[in-house]
Amino acid sequence: MHLLLINGPNLNLLGLREPSIYGSETLEAIESRLKQKAKMEGVLLESFQSNSEGVLVDRIQQALGKVDGFLINAGAYTHTSVALRDALLSTGIPYVELHLSNTFAREEFRQKSLLADCAIGIVSGFGGMSYELALEGMLGYLMNTQK
Ligand code: DQA
Repeated sequence: MHLLLINGPNLNLLGLREPSIYGSETLEAIESRLKQKAKMEGVLLESFQSNSEGVLVDRIQQALGKVDGFLINAGAYTHTSVALRDALLSTGIPYVELHLSNTFAREEFRQKSLLADCAIGIVSGFGGMSYELALEGMLGYLMNTQK
């Protein structure tokens, strides 16, 4: 099984960026923890981060036929990007949407997601642990559907 973890804009600054909201863990630390956890489950997990919408679209398209599932924290593009939504749907690859913060408890503009209605599920508000929960959710989903 092959999964791709995608992180969108400003998530490269985790650890420095608004730590009261996003915590003090770096993206590198989160990625390596998650890769370790995936490996223990016999799953290959790759990670990718970009601040650029088009680059994210390109990476999603490149996953066609190669990846069984996406874990995606699209950052601010969650709330704005029809292009990311279309890219995800174009691949037909299942995805879990995830957020460190509880976006539903924040500003009104963060309470809308252009990705959520087509996701397998959403994990929001558990800090760095949201990534693990998203991985668990995806693995459970794939195990049930690939039987
Ligand atoms: C975020 C929430 C988004 O609203 C915000 O733009 C981010 C991070 C989160 O992980 O909580 O960049 O996706």
